[in-house]
Amino acid sequence: MKKFRVVVLASGSGSLLQALIDRQNIHGGELVGLITDIPCRAQARARNANIPVTTIEVGLDRSNWNKKLLSALNNLNPDLIVSAGFMRIIGTEVLEEFEGKIINIHPALLPNFPGSNAVRDTLIAGAKITGTTVHFVDSGIDTGEIISQKEVEILPNDTEASLHNRIKLIEQELIVNVVADFASGKLNAWSKS
Ligand code: GRF
Repeated sequence: MKKFRVVVLASGSGSLLQALIDRQNIHGGELVGLITDIPCRAQARARNANIPVTTIEVGLDRSNWNKKLLSALNNLNPDLIVSAGFMRIIGTEVLEEFEGKIINIHPALLPNFPGSNAVRDTLIAGAKITGTTVHFVDSGIDTGEIISQKEVEILPNDTEASLHNRIKLIEQELIVNVVADFASGKLNAWSKS
C-alpha cells in the first residue's frame, strides 16, 4: 500500500516532531522530510531518525524564500504538511499549491489567543482553561478551519514555561492522533485545484 507522506515544518526544539518520530507505528504516516528556516534542535532530531532535512533561511527577498519552500515541498510530494512550531508565515504561492494539506498546531484554544505569544497572552488574560488546537493553515494568522482541540487546565502557580511544557505533552498526543486520522483517511486533506 502507498505510504502516506508527511512533511514537518519546524523552527524550534522539535518535541512535536519527536513525538511523530517515536510514534510512527501509531500514526502510520511516513516522515519524508523536515523543513526548517533556522538552525534548530529539530534538525538533529530528524537526522537521528534518518529524515532528510532542508533548511531554507529567510533572506531579504521573501518571495524568493517562498519559491524555495514551494520547490522543496514539491520535491517531497507530501500528502500532509505539519507545521509544528514553524515560526514563519507561509506565502500565498505555497498556500495556493498546498492549502488543505497544511495543518498547524497552536498552543491555545483558538480562536482565543492566536499569534506567537499565545501561552503568555493566555496567562496575562487570567484564563483558567487553555489547551491546544490543530487547524488547517490559511492566509491568516492561526485563522484556518479548526480540526481538533484539547483542553489543558491552568494551575495557580503556572509560569509561561510550566504551562507551555504541560500543553506540549497534550500536543504530542493530539498531533499523533490527528496525523493518524489523516493517514487512515478518517480525516481528509483537500486540494484547492
Ligand atoms: C508547540 O507548542 C506548538 O503548538 C507551537 O510551537 C511549539 C512547538 O514545540 N506552535 P516544539 O518545538 O515541537 O517543542
